[in-house]
Amino acid sequence: MERPRRLRRSAALRALTREVSLRPDQLIHPIFVHEKDSEHPIATMPGISRHSLSGALQQAQRAYALGIRSVILFGIPEQKDSQGTGAFWEMGAVQQATRLIKAALPELAVIADTCLCEYTDHGHCGPLCEIHLGGPEGTAADWTVDNDAALELLGRTAVSQAQAGADIVAPSAMMDGQVAAIRAALDVAGFQQVPVMSYAVKYASSYYGPFREAAGSTPSFGNRATYQMDPAGGYREALREAQLDVDEGADFLMVKPALAYLDVLRLLRDSFDLPLVAYNVSGEYSLIKAAAQAGYMDERRTVLETLGSMRRAGADSIITYHALDAAAWLQENQ
Ligand code: PBG
Ligand code: ZN
Repeated sequence: MERPRRLRRSAALRALTREVSLRPDQLIHPIFVHEKDSEHPIATMPGISRHSLSGALQQAQRAYALGIRSVILFGIPEQKDSQGTGAFWEMGAVQQATRLIKAALPELAVIADTCLCEYTDHGHCGPLCEIHLGGPEGTAADWTVDNDAALELLGRTAVSQAQAGADIVAPSAMMDGQVAAIRAALDVAGFQQVPVMSYAVKYASSYYGPFREAAGSTPSFGNRATYQMDPAGGYREALREAQLDVDEGADFLMVKPALAYLDVLRLLRDSFDLPLVAYNVSGEYSLIKAAAQAGYMDERRTVLETLGSMRRAGADSIITYHALDAAAWLQENQ
């Protein structure tokens, strides 16, 4: 008789035969930075706050001490406008936090989320333009994001983040051509060595709900369905989006969200050679937190199992709000 249980007899044998690893340096810790001196807990994401500059630095230091080697920064500005020009303000929260963290922790990689939705007064990922929806000329019209106007602003944002010392820029707007536009803008500005981590396959997902409260980036009207991907889109669209970003010069590919799209992670892992990132998004975090707080599930085991599933699906690294907790648990497991 075949006896697979032979290899499960002890912790040592299970460790010896384990195929999937999870290390703190594979985790990317997200940090929200605002232009205030206080810390502001986010009700929908227990354990997560918007931080002041010094609070952001403390977060980075905690992450580094736990063996995490990269953080991703999101900014929450005081001033917003229709174009999102605050995204490339040199005194913006992300730019200042980047300078501060890189000065204190030069070995920690700072990734800057490159988008405009936190900076636009309407909450969309770029400036708006009118689209005609058919019917008699001048009747049904609506607003959508002006793709090519956004490209220029995203390029400027990436350059300002690189100037502040960001090690990687991560465009998340799902604008067509954004990787090429950012690559070109970085190269012209002398940042040929700054990689682009592309949110290549990003779905219009309900799992972003808690983040939008955290970042203050809920669209004031409509939704992101005209630029983010349809959750039921399937594999051809995912392959096309990823291939375009590869062709445009992306250095990393990302799938977002992760948990409901583990099959897409596996598809990209098997189809492309670039490093692959999973974004374990806010809603995925809040589900586990809420269940753990209610006493329905064991947080530690659930988190490590969940992050392990993303590694097994093919992710090299994972952006996760569980990063600090998970890194601490992994160190204890050593
Ligand atoms: C903004 C952005 C979003 C997230 C990362 N960058 C929100 C969105 O697209 O609405 C989601 C992160 C999360 O839910 O944790 N472009
Ligand atoms: Zn956005």
